[in-house]
Amino acid sequence: MKTKKIFIVGCSGTIGETTLKMLSTETDHEIVGSCFELPNYFNDISLNIHKVSSLRFKELRKIILKEKPNVIVNCSGISDPVFAEANKKLTWDLNVKLVEHLVSISKVLEAHLITFSCEWVFDGNKGPYKEDDRPNPINYLGKSKLAAENFVQTNINFYSIIRLPLVYGVLGKTDFVRKIIAANMEKGYTLPLKYTTNPVWADEVAWGIMKIIDMELTGIFHFGGANIVNVRDFVDYIRIFIKQDLTPVNLRPPILFSSGEIKSFGLQTALSQALLSMKFTSVVNGLYNYFSQYRTRSFDYLDGFDRLIELL
Ligand SMILES: NC(=O)c1ccc[n+]([C@@H]2O[C@H](COP(=O)([O-])OP(=O)(O)OC[C@H]3O[C@@H](n4cnc5c(N)ncnc54)[C@H](OP(=O)(O)O)[C@@H]3O)[C@@H](O)[C@H]2O)c1
Repeated sequence: MKTKKIFIVGCSGTIGETTLKMLSTETDHEIVGSCFELPNYFNDISLNIHKVSSLRFKELRKIILKEKPNVIVNCSGISDPVFAEANKKLTWDLNVKLVEHLVSISKVLEAHLITFSCEWVFDGNKGPYKEDDRPNPINYLGKSKLAAENFVQTNINFYSIIRLPLVYGVLGKTDFVRKIIAANMEKGYTLPLKYTTNPVWADEVAWGIMKIIDMELTGIFHFGGANIVNVRDFVDYIRIFIKQDLTPVNLRPPILFSSGEIKSFGLQTALSQALLSMKFTSVVNGLYNYFSQYRTRSFDYLDGFDRLIELL
């Protein structure tokens, strides 16, 4: 297989660092990247990482044009709907403007652009959604991601847009599981609304990216875990693993979604699984893998796995 040069933008995030690690250990491709803070994995291997924020568009452009990659994987972005609603400018800059710049760079270099969108481009009325279902975002995060999708689709051909549901993975600065672990149980943890989704393990996202790069597949792809779960149950599964008690977590809906109605999100993955010859794992296996990788920390997680199996 032809060796490629791959530039990972935002390589210190959950998907970014997981992809950085997977591509550098599983392939012979040349890996280059950029991030504001160096990822942990950077300590383990010698990689060519540029220390620059994804928001410094001109500087980043210069660097990527100089590196001349065949593939650009854009792992920068805002994914928390509550944060996006409160930080609209930052969300637009990172989710839309950055993508516009990367589209322009990809055009010049004739590079394959891979970028991420999310389940929030849909309205949550009839999930899990297929790739060709009609988007209809109900919040700012979904609107920003849809604007980026549209820009990519109308300006270049050599692109892959990977839509993701809720992601969990041990690398990167933080992720949903670590946020739950760190949450103050008295105050609770704010979720945008009550909803169902199919949480996906970051390692499988990275595996899928690796396959998309090698097969040069283009278009929109849905990734997601094997089970659709209520996000509240997912929080409880996490807490079983970390042996916390099952006192209900206070899921405070924001003002925008105060009805309390359970929305139906999640992404159907049959097309991606068939095209990429891969099978996404279940929430239980994913969390087991997560806590296995996490074992260097102080949690006694294994007992939690048996308790979770009983519960399911
Ligand atoms: N996590 C999820 O549940 C989820 C769900 C659906 C879609 N996605 C999408 O998947 C992609 C990767 O997600 P992820 O979970 O890996 O993201 P992440 O860990 O939260 O962050 C990704 C990167 O975005 C950059 N970033 C975030 N906030 C920033 C800020 N205020 N200023 C400058 N840069 C900032 C950072 O880049 P540096 O490395 O340069 O510091 C960070 O490492 C994103 O496009 C995201 O929207 C994620």
